[in-house]
Amino acid sequence: MRRLYPVPSADETAAAFDSAGSAHPLDSPGSAGSLDSLDGLADAYAYPDRARGPWLRANMVASLDGAARHEGRSQGLSSAADLRVFGVLRALADVVVVGAETVRQEGYRPAKAREAFADRRAAAGQPPAPVIAVLSASLDLDFSLPLFTEPVTQTLVVTGATAPADRVAAATKAGARVVVAGDGAGADPARTVRALADLGLTRLLHEGGPKVLAQFAVAGVVDELCLTIAPLITAGDASRIMNGPGIAVPKRFSPTSILEEDGFLFTRYSRG
Ligand SMILES: NC(=O)c1ccc[n+]([C@@H]2O[C@H](COP(=O)([O-])OP(=O)(O)OC[C@H]3O[C@@H](n4cnc5c(N)ncnc54)[C@H](OP(=O)(O)O)[C@@H]3O)[C@@H](O)[C@H]2O)c1
Repeated sequence: MRRLYPVPSADETAAAFDSAGSAHPLDSPGSAGSLDSLDGLADAYAYPDRARGPWLRANMVASLDGAARHEGRSQGLSSAADLRVFGVLRALADVVVVGAETVRQEGYRPAKAREAFADRRAAAGQPPAPVIAVLSASLDLDFSLPLFTEPVTQTLVVTGATAPADRVAAATKAGARVVVAGDGAGADPARTVRALADLGLTRLLHEGGPKVLAQFAVAGVVDELCLTIAPLITAGDASRIMNGPGIAVPKRFSPTSILEEDGFLFTRYSRG
């Protein structure tokens, strides 16, 4: 994997050429380690200082023509490098926020405790794997799945105050914790971020899907977008990565970095 932006300096490029056995002269200039190592990638994607409060990073993949899924899933748009970045972003997060439809369609399982990140997570005061927080209004979820019954860290279901009582009971019975973050049927995005922060979960990773992510974007609580651009076109009518209410005045994001591997661009933008 190589960094395209910020453009590597001449010194960084020379240093990369000098490093023994470097197959890619522009590997990792500017980062603590090679971007081909999980540690180097994790350093490159480190969250800002926790003292600044919660930070919500979204990670999505899209085709060149803007599709957020192919044949109902995002897998067809992904690559080995994309899965590597996906795994690293999870490994850095306290909590993975995800919409119920993505959980249903992609068959979400509990996040894994990965040996490669065990020391890093322990040093950051994190449990071995991030919490998964599923956003659902109906709680029409299969609570017999391992996501709810066998997580490394207890799965959360984030919903509104009028969620069906029997489904709340079913979630709780299965072992999940129900978090109410809205007065109506669903959760309010800003309240969701606050509720998770109150549980000590301030390094947030939003994995979509498009309907839920759009609401978080409109609410102004998306601090960072990690968008993989797959070198594929799909045509068709798949939704884009945010699909829902619009934003009256488009919000400006600024590029932090752009990495590349195998034609896939790993872009990273932050608010402002
Ligand atoms: N390209 C990517 O990176 C990427 C990432 C993720 C997913 N995807 C794809 O996106 C598709 C699914 O996304 P989607 O946009 O259809 O759905 P989604 O955003 O994953 O989930 C929508 C569901 O979330 C719940 N929900 C929505 N707003 C809520 C709120 N305010 N409070 C509480 N719950 C709320 C509702 O669940 P209930 O019906 O249970 O009430 C709703 O049906 C899949 O095909 C998946 O493969 C792509």
